[in-house]
Amino acid sequence: MTTPLIAGNWKMNGTLRSLTELKGIADAIKDGRTEGTDVVVCPPATMLSASRGILHNAAKVGGQDCHAEASGAHTGDVAAEMLKDVGATYVIVGHSERRADHGESDEMVRAKVEAAWRAKLTAIVCIGESQEERDEGRTLDRLGEQLAGSLPDGATADNLVVAYEPIWAIGTGRTATSDDVAEAHGFIRKTLSERFGGDTGSAIRILYGGSVKPDNAFDLLHTENVDGALVGGASLKAEDFIAICEAAA
Ligand code: G3P
Repeated sequence: MTTPLIAGNWKMNGTLRSLTELKGIADAIKDGRTEGTDVVVCPPATMLSASRGILHNAAKVGGQDCHAEASGAHTGDVAAEMLKDVGATYVIVGHSERRADHGESDEMVRAKVEAAWRAKLTAIVCIGESQEERDEGRTLDRLGEQLAGSLPDGATADNLVVAYEPIWAIGTGRTATSDDVAEAHGFIRKTLSERFGGDTGSAIRILYGGSVKPDNAFDLLHTENVDGALVGGASLKAEDFIAICEAAA
């Protein structure tokens, strides 16, 4: 039985004043409210060190991106080793917002995943189709392209998590239906098993992301091949985020 994983992607939100929300998450976890579920919080890089201090071992912390290189003339970028250095054990890679805002191709995402693995970070690799691609019936084609192009060889259940985030569901309040999620996650599971072998493909956790909220989390998290969630807006409030974690049980 795969341990569920609930990851919070704070995106470009939060200052040190937001650490009170993290304290609320840590307290709830210590009270046993997320028993049996792995919890990761991915705050802005500026908050990682302080977040690690507050969360201790209650929850893991992760970055929201990493550069493909270990160091060098890349102003403003953050290397995977730097994330590791401040206590991160996960890193989100290839989020659709970065693919759009920074022109990140599947090949660039793959190089970032390789850098994450060199730093011994678990990569949460995001894939997902646009509304147009869905309307044209190209969802699974797009997911297949992204999986083939974004994932290096050597994936394991320890170094890789895949997050299915339909672009049209992110931040919109429109959540994919259970049928949409079951189809996409079933395809991703099949593709991972064909590429990395049945045991590995079955063990790699596949998260759903896109307007996950306390009131829809239970159904989403109890859909076949859904091993957790990558939560945006609802992760910014401790109570909502913990309610989603509780729904995973
Ligand atoms: O990475 C998670 C994010 O894209 C989902 O955002 O606000 O729709 O939960 P949201």
